[in-house]
Amino acid sequence: MNIVIRREKTTDYRIVEELTREAFWNLHFPGCVEHYLVHILRNHPDFIEEMDFVAEFNNKVIGNIMYTKPFVTDEEENKINTITFGPVSVLPEYQRKGVGSALINYTKEIAVKNKSNAIIILGHPHNYCKYGFKNSRDYLISDTEGRYPVRAISA
Ligand SMILES: CC(C)(COP(=O)(O)OP(=O)(O)OC[C@H]1O[C@@H](n2cnc3c(N)ncnc32)[C@H](O)[C@@H]1OP(=O)(O)O)[C@@H](O)C(=O)NCCC(=O)NCCS
Repeated sequence: MNIVIRREKTTDYRIVEELTREAFWNLHFPGCVEHYLVHILRNHPDFIEEMDFVAEFNNKVIGNIMYTKPFVTDEEENKINTITFGPVSVLPEYQRKGVGSALINYTKEIAVKNKSNAIIILGHPHNYCKYGFKNSRDYLISDTEGRYPVRAISA
């Protein structure tokens, strides 16, 4: 598919919220909340405006990826800034055609260029190891409960 990836504009807001709702509708439970998350995330202090991208196909917005800034704390309680993405959404009729992968790979390259310390995400190995993500246990990065449900990548 010949897609164009570009920054999200204010005129895309409603379209992106609607495509997010379509992508997540009835996926984890009846209905979904992710479109509301997108709505409130843009005004959150941890939102990274310059890492908010849409994918266009034939001038139609069909996908979106958004990043925020979590942090990791080391043994000395120093905060290490990292980034994470989500939601990442593709309109159902365009899924499994490479759009989601293109959004992840495109933004991963930007993270590398920007020398971000790491992209840390929670997700299944099948879905993320193919992009180079590794188990966070390899980096001794756990969640606040000391568990290792997350995958991390050094960028
Ligand atoms: C996940 C999603 C963004 C992937 O976009 P896509 O354009 O369909 O993905 P691609 O065609 O580039 O790649 C397909 C891969 O997506 C991955 N994928 C499927 N569901 C996924 C999920 N919930 N989270 C992450 N990756 C997922 C799979 O690894 C799949 O590979 P496979 O066919 O070998 O199983 C899209 O399917 C979607 O919007 N799903 C609903 C919303 C969602 O679950 N978002 C992710 C969590 S925030």
